[in-house]
Amino acid sequence: MRVLVVGGGGREHAICLALSQSAHVQKLYCAPGNGGISKVAECVDISATDIHNMVCFAKENVDFVMVAPDDPLALGMVDALEAEGVRAFGPHKAAAQLESSKAFAKGIMDKYGIPTAQYREFSDFDVAKAYIHEKGAPIVVKADGLALGKGVVVASTIEEAVDAAHTMMLDKKFGDSGNRIIIEECMTGPEVTILAFTDGKTIVPMLSSQDHKKAFTGDLGPNTGGMGAFCPSPLYTPDIARECMTKIFRPTIDAMNSEGIPFKGVIYFGLMLTPNGPRVIEYNARFGDPETQAILSMLKTDLFEIFDAVIDERLDHVDISWADGYACCVVIASGGYPEKYETGFEVSGLDMIPDDIIAFHAGTRLSDDVILTNGGRVLGITARGSSLEQAARRAYDGVDCVRFKDAYFRTDIGK
Ligand code: AMP
Ligand code: GLY
Repeated sequence: MRVLVVGGGGREHAICLALSQSAHVQKLYCAPGNGGISKVAECVDISATDIHNMVCFAKENVDFVMVAPDDPLALGMVDALEAEGVRAFGPHKAAAQLESSKAFAKGIMDKYGIPTAQYREFSDFDVAKAYIHEKGAPIVVKADGLALGKGVVVASTIEEAVDAAHTMMLDKKFGDSGNRIIIEECMTGPEVTILAFTDGKTIVPMLSSQDHKKAFTGDLGPNTGGMGAFCPSPLYTPDIARECMTKIFRPTIDAMNSEGIPFKGVIYFGLMLTPNGPRVIEYNARFGDPETQAILSMLKTDLFEIFDAVIDERLDHVDISWADGYACCVVIASGGYPEKYETGFEVSGLDMIPDDIIAFHAGTRLSDDVILTNGGRVLGITARGSSLEQAARRAYDGVDCVRFKDAYFRTDIGK
């Protein structure tokens, strides 16, 4: 098989590495890819959101496309590929609304009784403001559309919540994503991420995981796309897993089928383990990043076989198995991320990293055999261990090998 992976971050590096080990994959492309991905796949210079050129390239060159990031899924890349007869992994545009529209997702949960925070939807600022005053703080304000994981404000005061609504609806900080906002109840409890493969009939959760969204050690600073992750989560007990399957995972798949928009691909359940049981914080329509870097390093089954089975709706015939122990991924980011940061700095020390540790590249590019920084999140240093402590310690052994100007990372991932 000739396979194309769409995307170019740490998640796509992890997916490409797993696919490069598949007995079914003879040729692997990644578009646009990055400096590290170029070691396992041929990188093609097409932007992940350039549907037209991606479809043209795929038609000519590959048998199978895996669409990893949220934007192309929300834009309907899978629909466009299929319309041209190309096999593609990922949800259709309509199903990807579980992520691309928070109002859609909340509507589904509301209609089908899937546990989540109580909410209301607003398209008028003054009405939203009045509602915030009526409900009081703490309260959560969310832009409806995609906002790079930054369109959520957990406000501890009424003023902060009103400010957030103002920024989204009137200042248009996230463009049209803020035309509609959601205001919801503030839940409490630890957060766990469950990624699950689904073909629309069967749903198979992967190992549970936790990510660290805040920029700085001690859960301080602004929210990011994720500064590290580990799996499995010690908080996610077999009892909680059973409850999530019956109250959340299965009902979500059934709900999408009842709506006539079956979901095929990977669903990301962002869960909060509240005192009243697990509840959904958000859905994503894709693998999470950096969670995937930790999770796929534990996968024993051929990833291509799973993708193939999802498309043909025979996931129930695949036995998906995982390594014992734990995995931990520590992100090394560019100074200034998630706000302004510089790129183009040389990354050194990658060749010093021991073989049992994987340096997934998130934002790098290759220039004359030199790896340069090329994004906010630069590397995801990932290691396994028989305990979480050991996996984290080993990941930090890898982190210690790497240097680039203004690099920063959290020192408490997995701790
Ligand atoms: P989201 O982008 O929806 O995952 O939200 C980002 C982060 O905001 C989550 O990981 C939570 O930490 C927090 N959050 C979102 N919604 C709520 C809520 N209803 N109650 C408490 N925290 C929330
Ligand atoms: N790590 C959060 C996400 O992928 O959305």
